[in-house]
Amino acid sequence: MAPPTLDARTWRYLAAHRVARMTTVDAAGRPAIVPICYATDGHAIYSALDAKPKRVPPTDLRRVRNIVANPAVALVVDDYAEEWADLSHLIVHGTASLVAPGTADHAAAIARLRDKYPQYATMPIEAQPVIAIRPRSARFWAATPDGEQAAAEPARDLDFDALVRGRRSVRAFRPDPVPRALIERVLDAARWAPSPHGRMPWRFAVLTEPAVKARLADAMGDTWRATLAMDNDPPAVVAQRLAHSHARIREAPALILLCLYTADLDHYPDPDRQAAETTMAIQSLGAAAQTLLLAAYRLGLDGGWMCAPLFCPDTVRGALDLPPTLVPHALLPLGYAAKDPKRRPRLPLDDLVVRWE
Ligand SMILES: Cc1cc2nc3c(=O)[nH]c(=O)nc-3n(C[C@H](O)[C@H](O)[C@H](O)COP(=O)(O)O)c2cc1C
Repeated sequence: MAPPTLDARTWRYLAAHRVARMTTVDAAGRPAIVPICYATDGHAIYSALDAKPKRVPPTDLRRVRNIVANPAVALVVDDYAEEWADLSHLIVHGTASLVAPGTADHAAAIARLRDKYPQYATMPIEAQPVIAIRPRSARFWAATPDGEQAAAEPARDLDFDALVRGRRSVRAFRPDPVPRALIERVLDAARWAPSPHGRMPWRFAVLTEPAVKARLADAMGDTWRATLAMDNDPPAVVAQRLAHSHARIREAPALILLCLYTADLDHYPDPDRQAAETTMAIQSLGAAAQTLLLAAYRLGLDGGWMCAPLFCPDTVRGALDLPPTLVPHALLPLGYAAKDPKRRPRLPLDDLVVRWE
């Protein structure tokens, strides 16, 4: 196998993105461009000839004919955002070849593609060659160090103990935006949380637009005001708690709404097993949240956990126009800590282990 040609940061940027634009050229030098899904292994970039309805058989595709005539290809992967400080792109030049079905390299590439794109799970991509691009050179560009950070080494390159002990709940953030690529890396990490039957019974809604955050905060505030009124709390206390919660939602640079999604779970005729299945899904949602928060912390971000959506799922769904199959469970604010929070002490291990024999 050829030695790796790109640096670790470049491979990470590629791995964190989901679509590239690839140019090929024919024998006469005429260029063609096509969007591709791809997976990487630290040596090459792989793209399937998938079985989406097309006018020609996959091996007659122009990109395949071009690669056979001239293996030189170029790729661009990029982040566009209206906040231009977040702009970044990566241009890769390389040499493409076709990996034939039935070989170990082909099987490994197919496995990587299916791992990255669940859509491929049911497509017969294993019957077609895979395009393998060996990079020769790459050029990364980011508008600001912030954008660059999205692809850079983790801001907190911690060992495991320091990571799990360092993660903390932060309730006030600096106003700095969170680069989109960092959010993608955080969500990508959460995909690896354990889940019942591997069904991943959770979905994410990412909220960064001020107007959307304000709409959600207003809607949740209205519902919460009605709930607090039932508790007969003094109006000043109610007002203060509402203002605090409203500000937490509005001022978080990014919010991840973690929703329970049970449609893909097993279904049982008896309520006990059905309830256990739902409990497992909720346990898994907690695992996804913790994975996400640890990934965020490692990337130099901080996160928090707001359970409020659990108490007003209809309100949250309505404010964000989410389908009824999604049950909002937690809002995880993400950003850069305004100050180090006070930590809660932990019980000693002896208090937690009830039997060990
Ligand atoms: C299921 C769950 C719900 C939580 N809900 C809230 C919440 O609504 N508001 C909040 O400020 N923190 C919330 N937290 C965060 C906890 O208060 C926090 O994790 C705990 O105090 C330990 O602090 P640490 O995260 O800094 O270690 C929640 C945590 C969990 C696991």
